[in-house]
Amino acid sequence: MSPIKLSNINYTYPSGIKALNNVSLTINKGEKVVLMGANGSGKSSLFLLLAGVIKPESGSYQINGESFRYCRKWRNKLCQEIGYVFQDPDVQVVSTHVDEDVAFGLRNMGLKEPMVQELVDEYLELTGISHLKDKSVHSLSYGQKKQVALAGVLAMEPQIVMLDEPFAWLDYQQSQRLKAILEQLVDRGKTLIISTHNSDFVSEWADKALVMKGGTLTADTSTNALFTNDCLIEELGIAPAQRHMIGC
Ligand SMILES: Nc1ncnc2c1ncn2[C@@H]1O[C@H](COP(=O)(O)OP(=O)(O)OP(=O)(O)O)[C@@H](O)[C@H]1O
Ligand SMILES: [Mg+2]
Repeated sequence: MSPIKLSNINYTYPSGIKALNNVSLTINKGEKVVLMGANGSGKSSLFLLLAGVIKPESGSYQINGESFRYCRKWRNKLCQEIGYVFQDPDVQVVSTHVDEDVAFGLRNMGLKEPMVQELVDEYLELTGISHLKDKSVHSLSYGQKKQVALAGVLAMEPQIVMLDEPFAWLDYQQSQRLKAILEQLVDRGKTLIISTHNSDFVSEWADKALVMKGGTLTADTSTNALFTNDCLIEELGIAPAQRHMIGC
């Protein structure tokens, strides 16, 4: 059974902008998927829909074969099924201090305090920000806040992990650390969906690329097929990957 299946999804913001136009897709367990497309093409809107933050005006969304339900009880249950790290950490980070923020979702899940503390320490360490544990969130840089949001989502150990432009704002060391974390998640059989503008990362890492244009899913293809087709790359408006440009 596929963890995610969307059929003919449409979504229009209250302002009248149609952000998702008849989107249908299937994502399989353990797949490494990237979401690409120009600014404003609908990537974050698709993530918001998958996370249940916005509700489609039409179409169906199935997660693990069950129709998605838009109620608090279902959403709480979903914490261990699907985790979403927002593009903008200022939208996601809700507590005043780093340790409190990473603990937030775990406490909502009803875990006992010793287990919460254990997971907070484990995931601060994994994301390389143990030294920020007692800091006020407001004193952090944007990149540091992104890492706090990442630690908070990973600590809930969801099966499907969605990261919206996770490399934006990260320095070289933190980018390398994130790549290593992604490998660990893959080894644990997680399904990963990542949005990025970095074609080199896509070509090295992903199994499948989804490409959005003006709210429409214009490609759903293997990354190999994508980067070996120059016409498609030009049509989709994405950058070619270096290793495919030198005759590989
Ligand atoms: N909260 C909102 N209210 C109204 N319109 C919105 C809102 N968020 C996004 N949009 C619009 O929906 C469309 C899709 O935006 P979205 O943020 O999904 O694009 P994106 O592909 O994630 O872009 P980027 O690469 O810049 O992050 C855009 O036209 C955008 O202006
Ligand atoms: Mg976005």
